[in-house]
Amino acid sequence: MIVKSSEFTTSAVYESQYPTDGLDEIALAGRSNVGKSSLINTLLKRKNLARTSSSPGKTQTLNFYKVNGDFYLVDVPGYGYAKVSKKQREEFGQMIQDYLETRAYLKGLIILIDGRHAPTDDDIAMFDYAQYLKLPILVVATKMDKVKKNAFNKTYSAFNKALGLSKLDNVDFLCFSSVDKLHVDELGKWIDDRLQE
Ligand code: GTP
Ligand code: MG
Repeated sequence: MIVKSSEFTTSAVYESQYPTDGLDEIALAGRSNVGKSSLINTLLKRKNLARTSSSPGKTQTLNFYKVNGDFYLVDVPGYGYAKVSKKQREEFGQMIQDYLETRAYLKGLIILIDGRHAPTDDDIAMFDYAQYLKLPILVVATKMDKVKKNAFNKTYSAFNKALGLSKLDNVDFLCFSSVDKLHVDELGKWIDDRLQE
C-alpha cells in the first residue's frame, strides 16, 4: 500500500452516523492501550491523526479515517478497561457489536494484542467472536520493540496456544511496533489483499 492521502472523516456511535459513500472498511479491535490508534498513525505516516494517550480509554467512538479516497480504517474503542463504568462498558460493547455484525462494507478485522504477554480472556473472547462472524482476521502482536528479537517465537507460541492460529486459514499473524515501524509494509499488504477480495 502506498499512502497518498489520509483524513479523519467522522465519529459514530449509531449506524445512522456511519459513512454513506459505500467505501470498503477495515476495522481495528483490541484492549484499551494496546496501540490501535498508534498503529493507524504509523501505517498512515501521520504523527497525530488518530489521538493516542498513555492512559487507557482514549478512543470512545467509532472513528473513520479515509485512506487514498479509497477505503476507511475504523478505530474502535478498546475493551477490557476496568475504570469505565459498567453502563459505559455495556454501551461500548453494544456499539462494537452493532458495527461488526451489520456492516456489509467491513472486509477485515485487525485484532491487536500486547505482544509482551499471552492473550487475556478478553482477547480470546474478541478473537472467538470475530471467528463466529467469519471475518478475515489479522492478529497483530503490538509493542514488539519491548520484546527481544530472540523471543519473537515465544510470542507466536503463546498466541498460537491461546488462539489456535495455525489451524485457521482465515487468520494471519504479524509482529508489529509503532516505535520501530516493524512490518508496516506487511500490514499494508494484508489490507490491500482484503480490499481486493
Ligand atoms: P484506546 O484508545 O484507549 O483503546 O488505546 P489504543 O489502543 O488506541 O492505544 P494508543 O495507540 O493510544 O497507545 C497507548 C499507549 O501505548 C501510548 O502511550 C503509546 O505511545 C503506546 N504505544 C503504542 N504503540 C506502541 C509500540 O509499538 N511500542 C511501544 N513501546 N509503545 C506503544
Ligand atoms: Mg485509541
